[in-house]
Amino acid sequence: MIVSSSIKGEGKTLTAMNLSLAFASLNKKVLLIGCDLRNPQLHKHIDEDKNTVGLVNFLVDPTINWRDSVLKKFDNHPTHDILLSGSLPPNPLNLINNGNLDILIDQAKKVYDYIIIDSAPTLLVADTKSIYHLADTMVYMSRAGVTEKEILNHIDNI
Ligand SMILES: Nc1ncnc2c1ncn2[C@@H]1O[C@H](COP(=O)(O)OP(=O)(O)OP(=O)(O)O)[C@@H](O)[C@H]1O
Ligand SMILES: [Mg+2]
Repeated sequence: MIVSSSIKGEGKTLTAMNLSLAFASLNKKVLLIGCDLRNPQLHKHIDEDKNTVGLVNFLVDPTINWRDSVLKKFDNHPTHDILLSGSLPPNPLNLINNGNLDILIDQAKKVYDYIIIDSAPTLLVADTKSIYHLADTMVYMSRAGVTEKEILNHIDNI
């Protein structure tokens, strides 16, 4: 499940976090992945450093075991796992569609009931578009008082 939106600050990260916790509270096994490589924010919700090892490290070198970088941050949600995005890479678009994320998702699907992806804004960068094919569904955020109505037309083109 990809959580995305058109522009910055529409609630992608908060919603991805809350959705993942909601599924975990039903005892579903959940992996929350930070896929906004250019503007990572998930770490702030779990009091982790921005450069904590994460997805980028696996995208650069798929021989790394991404499971070793999975964080468990909620004692009351033992089925909740988080993979942060990792250090800011020089080439986010190339990395995110180099095929290694597909491998990771394939592996994760065998273990998790739900995989939630916190993603980049679709109007600003092509990163999220390049991973649509990985998702069964997308939660698309718009924010009252912030998102301009004209921007919403863009949803037809994604
Ligand atoms: N439904 C909401 N009600 C109140 N505050 C919210 C809501 N959704 C998000 N926020 C707040 O708005 C700010 C932006 O939210 P968030 O970081 O989730 O957006 P984002 O779409 O991920 O932004 P970015 O594109 O910059 O990553 C945060 O401070 C968040 O706590
Ligand atoms: Mg965000």
